[in-house]
Amino acid sequence: MLNAENVKNIAVFVSGGGTNLQALIDAQERGEIRNGRIVFVLASNEKAYAIQRAEKAGIEHQVVSRKAYASSGEYDAAILAALENRHIDLIVLAGFLSILGPTVIEKYRNRIINIHPSLIPLFCGDGFYGKKVHAAVLASGMKVTGATAHFVNEITDGGAIILQKAVPIEQGDNEDILQYRVMRQAEWEILPKAVSLFCEDRIRIVGNRTEIIGTSF
Ligand code: GRF
Repeated sequence: MLNAENVKNIAVFVSGGGTNLQALIDAQERGEIRNGRIVFVLASNEKAYAIQRAEKAGIEHQVVSRKAYASSGEYDAAILAALENRHIDLIVLAGFLSILGPTVIEKYRNRIINIHPSLIPLFCGDGFYGKKVHAAVLASGMKVTGATAHFVNEITDGGAIILQKAVPIEQGDNEDILQYRVMRQAEWEILPKAVSLFCEDRIRIVGNRTEIIGTSF
């Protein structure tokens, strides 16, 4: 039985609909995020529906609006101020569309997980986010795509990969259909699993790769 002091505090950063936040909340309610609890939601956009999801789940939340800050450096400082004294052990970027600067990344080195809607290293990096990813995937003619949960470093989508899951591309798919399939069949499954593995200290980083300790996940 874990005692309360060991449980890791999770902050989830959002910008939009918050379906990945909802997947984390639902997994937590099913007891599938072992040794972790979502204690704070930070939204970069005051219109994010994700805020309503946090509200409904009774999770403390705050808008730190990217457009309220002239530079990414000032935005980084505002993010760190919002996290101050919350004893956050893990930051999860769940549909978060702002770029974190070096100050936040350094302070939370190897403690920031992002969900990206492709099989990294394909269709990732600057400019590849949301439906733009799926448009590029469809244009490529590939027959499979998927999602990746990975650590965040200074390179956009460049941190060590934790979990991936592939999904099929069907005849007649468009960006909307494909985005929903990737979210439902891949993102909403692997993000909670990656978060749980982190909170259980079961991810070992070896260079730019990870090893999962133990078999069940
Ligand atoms: C999803 O495609 C996710 O992969 C990307 O942002 C989109 C919206 O995510 N990171 P959410 O519904 O706000 O979690």
